[in-house]
Order: sequence, then C-alpha cells, then structure tokens
Amino acid sequence: MGPKRSFWAERWREQRIGFHEASVNPLLVRYLPTLELPESSRVFVPLAGKSVDMAWLIAQGLEVVGVEWVEQAIQQFFGEQALPYAQRRSPPFTVYECEGLALYCGDFFDLDPDTLGPFDLVWDRAAMIAMDEGQRAAYVPHLLRLLGKRGRILLVTVEYDSSEMEGPPYSVSEEEVRRLYAPSTEVELVKRNSVLDDSPQFQSRGLSRMDSVVWKISKP
Ligand SMILES: C[S@@+](CC[C@H](N)C(=O)[O-])C[C@H]1O[C@@H](n2cnc3c(N)ncnc32)[C@H](O)[C@@H]1O
Repeated sequence: MGPKRSFWAERWREQRIGFHEASVNPLLVRYLPTLELPESSRVFVPLAGKSVDMAWLIAQGLEVVGVEWVEQAIQQFFGEQALPYAQRRSPPFTVYECEGLALYCGDFFDLDPDTLGPFDLVWDRAAMIAMDEGQRAAYVPHLLRLLGKRGRILLVTVEYDSSEMEGPPYSVSEEEVRRLYAPSTEVELVKRNSVLDDSPQFQSRGLSRMDSVVWKISKP
C-alpha cells in the first residue's frame, strides 16, 4: 500500500514540500512546443499540488484541469498566484475554478473520464513517481481513459537504486514505463539526465545515482 491521503496531508500541513518548484519546470517549457498540440488544447495535471506549471499552461492559452486531494495545496495555489476563484461542489469533489483552470479537490481515482475527458495532453511531473508500484499499475489505465485519441503524455520519471532509498519519489524503470504504457500507446524516451549533482537532498538520503527521464507517450 503506497502513500495514503494522510501521508500527503501531513506533508502539506508541515509544509514539507521539497517536491514543489518555485519556477516553471524547464522540461515542460522545452518540450511542450515539440508536441504540436491543437490550439486551445485541454491539459490534465494529475496530482497537481500547487504547481506553478498550471499558471504557465493557462498563460499559453491552454485549458487546464488538475486534481489534488489536499485542500491546503489548492488554497495555497490560488493565494500565491493571486487568482480569484469560485468554488462549487461536484460530489465527491469540490472544484476550485478560475478562468482557464479547474482544480478538483479529491482522489484522482474518483475522476470520471466520461464527464471530465477527453484531454489532449497530460503533464505528469511528480505524479506517477509519487505512487508506489501497485498504485502505478492502477494509475496508468485510469490516466489513459482520460486521454483522448491522439492525446499525448509528457512524463518525467526518476531512476535510482531502490535499495538506497525508500520513496516517494519512487524509482520507475524504463521497463516499467514501457510495460504499463506500450501496449496501447507509442512510447518515446526523449531525454535522460543525471540529476544527483543538483540534488543535495537525495545525496543526503543516501543515493549514489539519480537520473531524470523525460518521456513522450502518444495515443494513436
Ligand atoms: C509529489 S507531489 C507533486 C505535486 C506536483 N505534481 C508538483 O510537481 O509539484 C504529489 C501530490 O499528489 C497528491 N496526491 C497523491 N495521491 C493523490 C490522489 N490519489 N489523488 C489526488 N491527489 C493525490 C499529494 O497530495 C501531493 O500534493
């Protein structure tokens, strides 16, 4: 059983959110233009936290939907981005909305693809790798149900020796990404970078190697 809601709620309560990035993710900025998305595409951000990438995606003219089950993260997102928002109930979710963005407060696995999909793009940064192996095996098929025909997933994973550290973030191998996605999609490894030198927090957790891997996953 992977990290539960209480685990993440505590992280947010104590603001132990080392995963949060103050600026837009450079991999998103670099690779989004290569995806050749249709204009005014719909983008889904799973396990969104208070990612500033969402504000950047709206500014690109995209329609963004995110899911995050810790309300504090959502409140902080709107507060820090100084975006006025409205709130409505869509059981089992509370939805926080502003122009170009709907953030669903609740469990990713409760999202209904028929009412919420289809999406043209999924931006998966620190989402798949935030779940353990069992959760990932359920996450991928549910995510693929939300993705429309010819939809794309821009995915960032990390790889390290799992005997050296316990996740999250979890190490997700090339073999696993291909095993979970390849049966129904085209999977392309775009770029692999060694990131340990820039990650003192993972050096002090005992890692001797850490790679970040960017994937482009395309639905036919
Ligand atoms: C590692 S953080 C990453 C946040 C964001 N993607 C980023 O890049 O900053 C993972 C987030 O997913 C949320 N989360 C984990 N499991 C979830 C689930 N089943 N449904 C909704 N949110 C979930 C956690 O509360 C946490 O804020």
